[in-house]
Amino acid sequence: MNILGIETSCDETSASIVRDGREVLSNVVATSLGEHQKFGGIIPEIASRRQLEYINIVTAKAVEDAGLAMKDIDAIAVTKSPGLIGSLLVGITFAGALAYALKKPLIHVNHIHAHIYANYLVERGSPRFEGIYADLPLPAIGLVVSGGHSSLFSIKDFRHFRVIGQTRDDAPGEAYDKVARILDLGYPGGPVIDALARSVSATDIKFPRAELAGSDDFSFSGVKTAVLYHIRKYAGSAGYSVPKVAAAFQESVISVLAQKSLAACRSRKRHVLLVGGGVAANTSLRERLQTLGTAAGVKVSFPPISLCMDNAAMVAGLAYVRTRPVDG
Ligand code: KG4
Ligand code: ZN
Repeated sequence: MNILGIETSCDETSASIVRDGREVLSNVVATSLGEHQKFGGIIPEIASRRQLEYINIVTAKAVEDAGLAMKDIDAIAVTKSPGLIGSLLVGITFAGALAYALKKPLIHVNHIHAHIYANYLVERGSPRFEGIYADLPLPAIGLVVSGGHSSLFSIKDFRHFRVIGQTRDDAPGEAYDKVARILDLGYPGGPVIDALARSVSATDIKFPRAELAGSDDFSFSGVKTAVLYHIRKYAGSAGYSVPKVAAAFQESVISVLAQKSLAACRSRKRHVLLVGGGVAANTSLRERLQTLGTAAGVKVSFPPISLCMDNAAMVAGLAYVRTRPVDG
């Protein structure tokens, strides 16, 4: 079954064709990110205008890259929520019109759940699996960390997601972006801080870690404020180092994410942790969770870096599950 996925929830316009819920035949992503950079964040009005300009071209290219024609598409999937309303509207309307014209089913997908499903996607031509969940069996714990979200889920199957924890203030990507702005590192902040932190072998700075004992929730606004106060106090003085501040900030965020998500696996006796979202591209988070996960007997999975960011392959993949019996 070939599903055409459409993703337009923020500044990326993406279309992808995924076969049988796993094999990515094409994944085309256009973005208006460059136009937002000078503002230090996404401007919704600009994002939705670009969605409208890109959607036709991106979809046609996804079909062409897959080596298919529109008649070979069996269903159309689209991100319904959450996201910027103007951007979402472009994808939802476009997908609805296309499904109507092609007389194919239309499947609405939740963007955050799709970020977790990205773990099940493989490149074209990869060996086939016996059933969707063969290599990463459910039930599992899911961790979505992005610019807008920080959520822990208990996942019985891909129709049943239960939120067990979420951020009480900033999302981790949002904290990265705000700290990058304070440090004058540009937007988005995640990749820059990630690279700077890697250039530092050790730092004696220690920012607060919101453990929120007894709860599966997160909080990242305190560390952001601590970075601000640190800079106000020490910027310009001897020994002040932006890479060291970046490394200490990253350590504070990463250690809490790793420790709390594995604690959720332990308390619920789950042996699979599925991570997704833009911050899942972070090298330090990937390394830390792999190491601690192995020690704890938890199989930790991350999507390939290109599928951590917003993309339509995850949307097409998750939609396939909706067409199948619950056990895949
Ligand atoms: O999932 P995504 O593309 O969009 C949302 O749904 O929010 O995530 C974007 C977020 C941005 O905040 C960006 O700074 C962060 O992901 N990000 C990273 C890294 N790459 C992107 N954060 C930490 N380390 C990275 N390497
Ligand atoms: Zn996202």
